[in-house]
Amino acid sequence: MKKIIVSPSLLSADFNNLGKDIEMINRSEADWFHLDIMDGVFVPNISFGLPVVKSVKKLAQKPLDVHLMIVQPERYITAFKNAGADILTVHYEACTHLHRTIQEIKAADMKAGVSVNPHTSVKLLEDILPEIDLVLIMSVNPGFGGQSFIKNSLKKITEIRNLANVVNPEVIIEVDGGVDTNNHREIVKAGANALVAGSAVFGAENPTEAIAKLKTI
Ligand code: DX5
Ligand code: ZN
Repeated sequence: MKKIIVSPSLLSADFNNLGKDIEMINRSEADWFHLDIMDGVFVPNISFGLPVVKSVKKLAQKPLDVHLMIVQPERYITAFKNAGADILTVHYEACTHLHRTIQEIKAADMKAGVSVNPHTSVKLLEDILPEIDLVLIMSVNPGFGGQSFIKNSLKKITEIRNLANVVNPEVIIEVDGGVDTNNHREIVKAGANALVAGSAVFGAENPTEAIAKLKTI
């Protein structure tokens, strides 16, 4: 059976009780913690920053999967490493010198990811693909939790999986936005092997059970 990585997004967690939600993820079948960093410039919303990442790191018993939705992410690589990031994903659209940024993330001893917005063709990742550990396909326009999955993403997932099979079969293909227990199977079938879920986990009556369902294909 295919192993699916599940990375619950803390954006939908209860910020008054973050410790409780972190412990729930620690005890669950989830693999990673997904942390959404928004600067109010690259995306029209501001989320949380380095002090929160540092606090999460103190309790988290699983890797921190940090998704930077910020302009000029290269300015903060060391800061996120020091805050406890294990995987650092930057946006294709936010990096003028993406190759250099990826090398810097890897030199800082983190896994390097590249994310693409819904309008960005995955064909543009062909040359960076051999260098990276993870591709993050945005299946909503980034900035907010709780939006609906954009159907066209399925085609993009298959396209990047086919490309990866040739140049980097080990690369993780992660999907973020509108993923839930109704559509996760078709997302995996299209070629994804990592799922981010915010509202589908924290909005569920039983978040632990929702995580377990997302792991089951
Ligand atoms: C959106 C973020 C997502 C978000 C997903 O900009 O990158 O990680 O938290 O939330 P859901 O799963 O509710 O779409
Ligand atoms: Zn995200």
